[in-house]
Amino acid sequence: MPLQTVQMVRDPLRFIGRCEERFGPIFRVRLLGYPNYVYVTDPSLARQVYATDRTVGRAGVVRRDFLEPLVGENSLLCLEGEAWLRQRKLLGPAFHRRNVDGYEEEIRWISRTALRSWDISGPFSLRPRFQEITLEVILQLVLGVRDSKRKHHLRQLLPALIDAGSSPLLWAVPARAWTVLNASKLARRLPHPLRKFLSLRDQVDRLIYAEIADRRRDPDMDGTDVLSLLIAGRDEDGAAMSDLELRDELLTLLEAGHETTATALAWCFERLVRTPDSLARLEDDLATGGQAYLEAVVKESLRARSVVFDTPRLLEGPIELGGYTVPAGWHVAPALALVQNSRSGFDEPQEFRPERFLGGDSPVDGWIPFGGGKRHCVGSHLALLELRVIIEETLKRFEFKAVDAAPEAIRPVHVTLVPGNEARVRARLRAVASLPASV
Ligand code: HEM
Repeated sequence: MPLQTVQMVRDPLRFIGRCEERFGPIFRVRLLGYPNYVYVTDPSLARQVYATDRTVGRAGVVRRDFLEPLVGENSLLCLEGEAWLRQRKLLGPAFHRRNVDGYEEEIRWISRTALRSWDISGPFSLRPRFQEITLEVILQLVLGVRDSKRKHHLRQLLPALIDAGSSPLLWAVPARAWTVLNASKLARRLPHPLRKFLSLRDQVDRLIYAEIADRRRDPDMDGTDVLSLLIAGRDEDGAAMSDLELRDELLTLLEAGHETTATALAWCFERLVRTPDSLARLEDDLATGGQAYLEAVVKESLRARSVVFDTPRLLEGPIELGGYTVPAGWHVAPALALVQNSRSGFDEPQEFRPERFLGGDSPVDGWIPFGGGKRHCVGSHLALLELRVIIEETLKRFEFKAVDAAPEAIRPVHVTLVPGNEARVRARLRAVASLPASV
């Protein structure tokens, strides 16, 4: 068990890849301090795991230990049962495609403004630059912050809070101890990473509660940002969300939607600069106003490089899976990178080939970048829109080349998988004639 734990911590993808080679598409790993964990790596088994959302599978409790200190107990990520359903219904309208499509122009504007400030004088990493853009999207379209001073503070504090919130030291604090820490002065005597986390969280909370108070006092009836819609929303009993619920959901959306989208963008460019034919076809397509290849590139990139490592469910009762009985109390988890690279789901899965997503017979079985079942990603439409718009705007302005021909390593960061060099590229300003100008 200790050996498996070391291998898992060092390089989880390689470890479970080896397990798959040895044991096939369903296997158990035993990790110190964790219940038994069963991974599945095949699309049909993944589908069966997601189907447990209707029966004995629980996604929220699994996330609680490491996410609740940041996102709070009312977070969609951590809730279960009726309480989860209530929040999911309240968030639904804001993330429905109809509402999200209305964000396109603002995302374009945010991207153009950011892209104009990029220093491309030497090789640089794309992921931090995309993080700035996706953070701005959350600040403007999700929180709807208009006050420039408040926005400035949040811009500084939120990335630092997410960073501090992913310290493994935080996960070592037992869930019950947080209730005491949250309410007591004891927090000031804690070791540095915990103290820093609590201090950043307090500062962010003050800004978010101030934003909520302003908006309740002076509601924007035409506001399409997520916070405006959440404030106006009512559940089936006619009740509105409390300030605490709003705060928890806003931090949830930030935590779940900011770095994931930036990482997906980084991977997309990491792949494109290493498959020049796909990049050239995309540039040609965009130059003539086409969107089909762009959509295929986005899908293929999310397939070829999973952003999220796994989507576990804790079983409250036993299930039959792949010829085995998995008992209650165990975790079952589709390993997204392996499912999306499985031969049973995709032809030549190791190839980056957007063409597989063109045409009517596009493969969808096994395409699970946003998870599945009832707990599938609530922000998937927004993420897909952001990806399309930001990739298009970035390519309108710059031409890219890889710094190194070898693919970047897949590096685990918290529950995500990021490009080892953060998608390092060289860029130059595009000649105006080749693509429609972005300014
Ligand atoms: C490319 C970007 C993104 C990826 C790859 C991604 C992926 C995922 C995955 C794999 C899950 C877990 C699904 C499961 O357990 O079956 C998830 C859940 C979630 N995502 Fe995303 N996500 C992205 C962007 C976003 C955005 C932009 C938002 C919102 C602003 C968001 C909000 C959420 C929330 C709230 C959940 C929890 C849903 C629930 O438990 O009911 N995500 N996401």
